[in-house]
Amino acid sequence: MRIRELWAEGWRNLEPLKLVPGERLSVLFGDNGQGKTNVLEAAYYLAALRSFRTTHAEDLIRRGAPEARARLRAEVEHRGLQRRFEIELGPTGRRARLDGKSVRGTAAALGAVSVVLFVPEDLLLSRAAPAARRRFLDLAIFNVERGYYEEASAFQKVLRSRNALLRQGSSAPALLDTYDEELARTGARVVMRRRALVAALEPRFAGHFRQLHGDLAVSLTYRSDPDVEAAGDEAAVERALDRGLADRRALDVRRRFTGFGPQVDDLEIGFLGTLARSQASQGQLRSLMLALKLAELTHVEARLGDPPVLLLDDVPSELDPLRRSLLFDVIAKLDCQTLISVTEREIVPALSGRRDFLVRAGTVVADPEAA
Ligand SMILES: Nc1ncnc2c1ncn2[C@@H]1O[C@H](COP(=O)(O)OP(=O)(O)OP(=O)(O)O)[C@@H](O)[C@H]1O
Ligand SMILES: [Mg+2]
Repeated sequence: MRIRELWAEGWRNLEPLKLVPGERLSVLFGDNGQGKTNVLEAAYYLAALRSFRTTHAEDLIRRGAPEARARLRAEVEHRGLQRRFEIELGPTGRRARLDGKSVRGTAAALGAVSVVLFVPEDLLLSRAAPAARRRFLDLAIFNVERGYYEEASAFQKVLRSRNALLRQGSSAPALLDTYDEELARTGARVVMRRRALVAALEPRFAGHFRQLHGDLAVSLTYRSDPDVEAAGDEAAVERALDRGLADRRALDVRRRFTGFGPQVDDLEIGFLGTLARSQASQGQLRSLMLALKLAELTHVEARLGDPPVLLLDDVPSELDPLRRSLLFDVIAKLDCQTLISVTEREIVPALSGRRDFLVRAGTVVADPEAA
């Protein structure tokens, strides 16, 4: 996939932006606080319909602008097909349009643009809370499984209802029975999707890691409750979830929240037969996380039949030269279009199809030497 043009108006601190990215590589450089990440955030928002920095739409809309409204647009090319995707954010909510036609609902609007985002926090994922690793898995699945957004939302919705009921101190058995059944059904879907992703990522992850550190045993495991793990197919997972919810109901009622199910699962990153976070060195952990992100990237590429657009926010500066060069090797081989933000553009290697952009006070200037 290629973004041919990225357009933003009323977005963060950006002056009206019309960016024509390089065929392969766009390097957004400039001092701190100038708007580099804001440009990547606009591209990410078009793909994910969310920001990676805030959950409040007001944060995204330019402060003090006469019109409290932000508009984004991307012209993208995917397998020879050119499409235009637009989003408008305003006081009355969000509107999306694909090729001029209104798109209703988040699920339908996802996927017009495909990106893989890599931010410095990703390098710390093995030591983050389990919720961050579950989010990593879910976001990676949204990229390749069109139905997953609705499946995951359905699960979250039942979970919220059940927790709301428990919070009131209620133990209404009939209602809880209904919730449990729904939770087991939607939860089994979530577990199966995440398992499938982890199985697809593991060999890629091991391969990328080998390139960095030689032949050390690494693994990726999707961790659930032991009874759920023992269940082989979706129907069996559903039964195990249902049973687990029933067994722990008294505990849930006492603690007033749902403590069992995929919302407490984890992605286990294994290194030399134990947990990476308790065994690997700092440098090895960074390599593991780099390998994991590269696995996500190559997986999306394989599944879409076309590499996604890669967004690297400040990541090259966080890597040492060896890891940085592996990252750029993979990018070069994959032929993916990449947008990078850095303060020092010298650390990004030359690649044909590179274009540089100077970002200063919300203004983006292409090919600053020529200007
Ligand atoms: N809604 C908004 N309206 C106006 N300005 C905003 C808004 N949100 C953020 N900003 C401004 O955008 C700037 C930050 O932009 P951004 O995070 O893109 O910087 P950056 O160039 O990536 O910097 P760094 O190199 O430090 O990462 C800040 O000056 C901030 O005040
Ligand atoms: Mg930044």
